[in-house]
Amino acid sequence: MLNEKEIKACLHTEKIGREIYYYKETDSTNIRAKQHFLEGATDGTLVIAEQQTTGRGRRGRIWESPQGGAVYMSVLLKPEIHPSKASMLTLLMALSLARSFTQLYGMECGRDGLGIKWPNDIVLHQKKITGILTEMSAKIDSVDYVIIGVGMNINNTEFSEELSQKATSLLCETGVIKSRAEVLTRALECFEEAYKVFQQDCDLKRFRKEYEKFLVNKNVQVRVLDPKGEYTGIARGINEQGELLVEKGGEVLSVYSGEVSVRGIYGYV
Ligand code: BTN
Repeated sequence: MLNEKEIKACLHTEKIGREIYYYKETDSTNIRAKQHFLEGATDGTLVIAEQQTTGRGRRGRIWESPQGGAVYMSVLLKPEIHPSKASMLTLLMALSLARSFTQLYGMECGRDGLGIKWPNDIVLHQKKITGILTEMSAKIDSVDYVIIGVGMNINNTEFSEELSQKATSLLCETGVIKSRAEVLTRALECFEEAYKVFQQDCDLKRFRKEYEKFLVNKNVQVRVLDPKGEYTGIARGINEQGELLVEKGGEVLSVYSGEVSVRGIYGYV
């Protein structure tokens, strides 16, 4: 079992996770984080659960959240940024997770090792180990909150039949068992460090190169599932706003993550 004391003892951050809400079971840590915001929770509040009864994924999907070796957590932020910049925080979290996993497990980064499938799935050996769901409440030009929800497959080894084709865990791929408190606290420390840098310019120019090292879609043909019409092209990288640059018929299109999702030509990656 994860416990709040252990997390607090391991966590060396200034703001992220200074206030923690821990649940053995809850509906969704994103829903709880929103409730805690409404009750006055501070910037950086962390909500963690051992299992979720209605875990939520992107695009209205369900995030299976049984008790076991996974971690379900949400970070509540109150950033002073324009709402149009908030989607970059998701990429920043993905990069921070990737950084922390390579530090802890020492794996290679890239398409055949640890990578990021744009915008924010962490994949290991081309299977997903982490998903991120970011939710925001905002006025026209200011943000009330951004909640970054992260589901991390750390020591879990069992997946439903549907998931087993495309999901895996750090333990399944590396054979290494680590304390979940260690993994999640390292991830949060990496995020805090990156978030401080991000706040200086509110864009990803200082992260772009490193993000692209992890980007499994780079120089690979992708299918862009745009509600206005699906197309294929070659992903070349990201711009400073975190949009995916896709080369299509001699022009380079910037793909914004809010509207579309991207698939490999032959499958998920
Ligand atoms: C995805 O579809 O890839 C995103 C999955 C995000 C799951 C996490 S688990 C913690 C937080 N609470 C939720 O209900 N969802 C996110």
